[in-house]
Amino acid sequence: MVRYSFIICFVSFILGCTLFSKCDASDDNPKLYIVYMGSLPKTPYSLTSNHLSMLQQVFDDNDATNSLIHSYKRSFNGFAAMLTNQQKEKLSQMEGVVSVFPSINLQLHTTRSWDFIGLPKTVKRSGAVESDVVVGVLDSGIWPESDSFNDQGFGPVPKNWQGTCAGGTNFTCNKKLIGARYYTGESARDLEGHGTHTASTAAGNYVDSASFYGLAQGTARGGVPLARIAAYKTCDDNGCTSAAILSAFDDAIADGVNIISVSLGGSSQNPFDEDPIAIGSFHAIARGILTVNAAGNSGPYPSSTSSVAPWILSVAASTIDRRFIDKVVLGNEKTLTGISINSFTSNGTQILIAKNNSGPECAKEDADACNCLDSRLVEGKIILCTSGKAILDKKFNKGNPTGAIIQSRRKGLPAFVTPLPAVTLSEIDFQLLKSYTNSTDDPKAEILKSEIVKDNDAPVVASFSSRGPNKIAPEILKPDISAPGVDILASYSQAVSPSGSIIDKRSSKYNIISGTSMACPHVSGIAAYLKTFHLDWSPAAIKSALLTSAQPMKGSGDDIGEYAYGSGHVNPIPAINPGLIYDISLEDYIEALCNLGYDNEKVKIISGKDNACSHAPNRSFVRNLNYPALASDVESSFTINFSRTVTNVGLPNSTYKATILPNPRIKVTVVPEILSFKSLGEKQSFVVTVIGDKLPTTTVLTSSLVWSDGTHNVRSPIVINVSN
Ligand SMILES: *[C@@H]1O[C@H](CO)[C@@H](O)[C@H](O)[C@H]1NC(C)=O
Ligand SMILES: *[C@@H]1O[C@H](CO)[C@@H](O)[C@H](O)[C@H]1NC(C)=O
Ligand SMILES: *[C@@H]1O[C@H](CO)[C@@H](O)[C@H](O)[C@H]1NC(C)=O
Ligand SMILES: *[C@@H]1O[C@H](CO)[C@@H](O)[C@H](O)[C@H]1NC(C)=O
Ligand SMILES: *[C@@H]1O[C@H](CO)[C@@H](O)[C@H](O)[C@H]1NC(C)=O
Ligand SMILES: *[C@@H]1O[C@H](CO)[C@@H](O)[C@H](O)[C@H]1NC(C)=O
Ligand SMILES: *[C@@H]1O[C@H](CO)[C@@H](O)[C@H](O)[C@H]1NC(C)=O
Repeated sequence: MVRYSFIICFVSFILGCTLFSKCDASDDNPKLYIVYMGSLPKTPYSLTSNHLSMLQQVFDDNDATNSLIHSYKRSFNGFAAMLTNQQKEKLSQMEGVVSVFPSINLQLHTTRSWDFIGLPKTVKRSGAVESDVVVGVLDSGIWPESDSFNDQGFGPVPKNWQGTCAGGTNFTCNKKLIGARYYTGESARDLEGHGTHTASTAAGNYVDSASFYGLAQGTARGGVPLARIAAYKTCDDNGCTSAAILSAFDDAIADGVNIISVSLGGSSQNPFDEDPIAIGSFHAIARGILTVNAAGNSGPYPSSTSSVAPWILSVAASTIDRRFIDKVVLGNEKTLTGISINSFTSNGTQILIAKNNSGPECAKEDADACNCLDSRLVEGKIILCTSGKAILDKKFNKGNPTGAIIQSRRKGLPAFVTPLPAVTLSEIDFQLLKSYTNSTDDPKAEILKSEIVKDNDAPVVASFSSRGPNKIAPEILKPDISAPGVDILASYSQAVSPSGSIIDKRSSKYNIISGTSMACPHVSGIAAYLKTFHLDWSPAAIKSALLTSAQPMKGSGDDIGEYAYGSGHVNPIPAINPGLIYDISLEDYIEALCNLGYDNEKVKIISGKDNACSHAPNRSFVRNLNYPALASDVESSFTINFSRTVTNVGLPNSTYKATILPNPRIKVTVVPEILSFKSLGEKQSFVVTVIGDKLPTTTVLTSSLVWSDGTHNVRSPIVINVSN
């Protein structure tokens, strides 16, 4: 069985940011599988008994009932069951079955950040409308007593709300946190901290003077402080199973949430009909609900994002202009500056540095990495470690050192909350520290409390943020957008220490963590905010508004920028009034599935539409999905067309002119170059032709198209990947 993970990065980035681990059992013991059966049937009948009778056909004895773990029947059709390989094979041949795939474990992958992205506290809000919006959060549960979820001033729950508070024992909802369900553990209570952090980032109420032990002080709030929250607990400290994720989608859609925020995922790109987030979010789209998903923390490697379906809004993580630094004053009065979120105040006393931290039985490399600390050598001293792994291990409790100085192994890693006074130094500074330590008999240092500095380079996509390209559908640029995901302050669970370590005896109402998990709820909050201005907009229209108004970003190093940040950095205020939108209907997505080569019969079952895939599929038509970004794989000489249709949502009488950001290696033309509108809601179509001649393979060429009426600039990136 494989598990999905939270897309948080406070420990995992040091450990390599693995989100996903597969351990295939070759024997034929029953494993948990998802049997996915597409849309709900048009004529209702008991799905559970249908699922049971299907199981009875593959079980010799009476075990069918015991094997059924869960029936999905509120928003789509399918079930989770314990099956052998043989039973799985039989079921996948049955009529009505789209796919059978193992339930794997996905991983769970703010004061300042909202001002940084241009959504200040004073922003215009329509309280009455916003309080009717419900943000559904699929995560590790929620800490209901957190100040971010207080319901002071909230009216009765929205009339259309169909959900319930089924949070388990000792769990109460209120008029802010209006729904809770759990699919793991004993209650919807958050024992990890992650779900409380993401929910409060998306829709937390205003909390004055929030801080992490005085660091990052300010008013904490979500993107839509007046909106409601429904928490669906799908994850625990082992990750989040596909079966639980699908249960949560099944419920959240039927409960009537308006936006679904999913800060978790896998680390491989899978066909849409075997990806629980793609399946759940497809059925959400069919009911007009947008799903926002974290891109993942497996960057900076190519194709590391697992969030690739066109109907999902996939979010990369970038820095904000606030960075946490930490200083170490050495016995020779030199000061070295590193990074960490170290809230421990020092008192001016210099502490002895341990020159040797382990006994002779410990290999040098392990000793250097602090893997076998000997308390006789390190107790009361500062240890030097070539890796942060030991210190960040949740179960770290060795040797009782007073502080730690860690060598950074990778550039661009975010700071992390330390369980004891600790700082990460660059390799160069760590060597300086080592030479100082060598040069004297009693090396000493003082690790100061962290400070905040301004980062003028921000926003830059974090190194850990998962990258495109999208291998499942190269025509769909992924991730879609970038948002703050580094050093984000938000509410936290009281059941865990902020560093997660057992030696850390603190519990804090707020914590500062990093990951695409933190970026995702920023965009969920903004999407909910946009919805309050445009109740009639489709999920694709909201997504289009966010993408076409995103701020262009700088690439970093030899990164292909668009594969890191998609359309750019989220920019909420212009998104309210984008001028034009690229809308996409459910039928358009279904046609894209057909053209991507999904089996016709299966697309009919998935979509519940008998007329799906009415014409022969043609892969080159996937480019014509009305996506607000243009991307394609091409051969070294090519002429390709992208057809697009924009809807006027700006001024009734308006004329837009196309501008292409030129790239000397390709020729990009737009026909027509001028679009004139006479009314709102009017649609106009155009074709973008891209021509390249004898380009070297494995080159990625970028350009962009901007439609402008002088007021609105509607920008789409163009990304051409020359491959074989
Ligand atoms: C309910 O949970 C809170 C938070 O963990 C705890 O403080 C309280 O004692 C619990 N109450 C009961 C009755 O278990
Ligand atoms: C300062 O901290 C050190 C180490 O924790 C402790 O031994 C010392 O007594 C403290 N000194 C004062 C003046 O508080
Ligand atoms: C570290 O200290 C231990 C115990 O005193 C000793 O056995 C060992 O040789 C020392 N290692 C080094 C590298 O000095
Ligand atoms: C410090 O001393 C150790 C042992 O003598 C040596 O291996 C190491 O290279 C020295 N490091 C520096 C930076 O001088
Ligand atoms: C797909 O469409 C393109 C462009 O219209 C056309 O050139 C090609 O022949 C079509 N392919 C198939 C298999 O129909
Ligand atoms: C591409 O679009 C141009 C301009 O609309 C059109 O003339 C041409 O025939 C199209 N080519 C293909 C292969 O569809
Ligand atoms: C739009 O322009 C037409 C002619 O240019 C004019 O008759 C009409 O009143 C204008 N409509 C609006 C809403 O400005």
